[in-house]
Amino acid sequence: MPYTAIVGLQWGDEGKGKVIDYLAEDYDVVVRFQGGANAGHSVYVGDKFFAFHLIPSGMLREDVVGVIGPGVVIDPDAFLKELRELEKMVGSLRGRLFVDPRTHVVMPYHKQEDALFETASDKPIGTTRRGIGPTNRDRYGRLGIRIGDTLRPVYLKEYMRRPYDFNRKIVEAYGGSMPSFEELYGFLLEFGERIAPYVVDTVILLEDMERKGARILLEGAQGTYLDINFGTYPYVTSSHPISGGATIGAGISPWKIDRVVGVFKAYTTRVGEGPFPTEDNGEVGKRLRDIGGEYGATTGRPRRCGWLDIPLVVYASMINGVTDLFITKMDVLDELGIYRAAVEYEIRGKRAGYPPAYSADWYDLKPVYEDFPSGESLIEEVEQRTGVPVRFVSVGKERKAVIERKTGGKYGKA
Ligand code: IMP
Repeated sequence: MPYTAIVGLQWGDEGKGKVIDYLAEDYDVVVRFQGGANAGHSVYVGDKFFAFHLIPSGMLREDVVGVIGPGVVIDPDAFLKELRELEKMVGSLRGRLFVDPRTHVVMPYHKQEDALFETASDKPIGTTRRGIGPTNRDRYGRLGIRIGDTLRPVYLKEYMRRPYDFNRKIVEAYGGSMPSFEELYGFLLEFGERIAPYVVDTVILLEDMERKGARILLEGAQGTYLDINFGTYPYVTSSHPISGGATIGAGISPWKIDRVVGVFKAYTTRVGEGPFPTEDNGEVGKRLRDIGGEYGATTGRPRRCGWLDIPLVVYASMINGVTDLFITKMDVLDELGIYRAAVEYEIRGKRAGYPPAYSADWYDLKPVYEDFPSGESLIEEVEQRTGVPVRFVSVGKERKAVIERKTGGKYGKA
């Protein structure tokens, strides 16, 4: 089967950008299926660096085709800026980047609402303020505006009234000032003209490419514990970063995905609010942040840091049906020189090998830690507890800094 999904097994920032760029060598197409410009996928190749937000990572490879599926939400300004910057590095993306007309637009008022609500709340989520929640709320509330609408001016003007009236009430209730209808209409028409050359029905595009023998990577953004259903609700994002999200977000049959690469970091990080059992607020957390350069690729916020949490990885492997594990930033743990991980939790007096399904219990659990003599033994523990092989170990930022374990070496089983 032609499809491989790449998903994050923690709270995002697992290093998926690098993993996708690395694996893209064996693939022809990379598809984004959820999230939006809240994502930040960093790729380093030689002296080139690029932080992808909306455009599929992997497009630094000049023969890779990129697809943005309907499950994504596109912020026009962020998209056009990223397109300009990437085209400066790799040349025109016309004929190489495709966007589905059903993809939703992040409207300026969605970003306003995200920021207004976060600021007004006494318990903010700690969102990236990129308008992700309000845009997806409008998707499900049947008040969204889609890329295809921006290419049909007469339809758009009529259609926009309901979303406009609804959102004006929200913005004004929170003390914001709503842009005029005409201003937003003009903004969308201009965006429509700019994006038009990239818009195609991506279901047909993928089907055609598949028939010609293309191999296709599905690029998950964020991570399993930010999933709207399976994450640490309500401290989650408004989409499905899990492998199942790829089927609904890109219009792909579940039986076509036969490989799921689960990416996790050798320790754990989280940006924004919400539970984080293995967080270390002391010296270790600070050292991990310094050595690992743990600052948000999108917002620049310092990430919260702590030990690897194996129950998280085990449960996420189940939800995603992970077939191959890819551990990243092993070099950071090597530099720290301590190989510690939570192997289980104690939840209300009982031992558990999985994270809780009840929100309240996340605040009521204690990680049970174990120290390992080496990185290799920590990796073996993860394999044993997940039942899934760790096939790749990333030991640096560069594309080449990956050890495939079957080939032997420090992290290899010859
Ligand atoms: P939103 O996606 O901006 O609504 O933010 C919801 C939560 O998801 C916040 O805790 C964010 O910090 C987190 N989040 C969103 N996108 C990413 C990401 O790409 N990496 C890590 N955390 C993210």
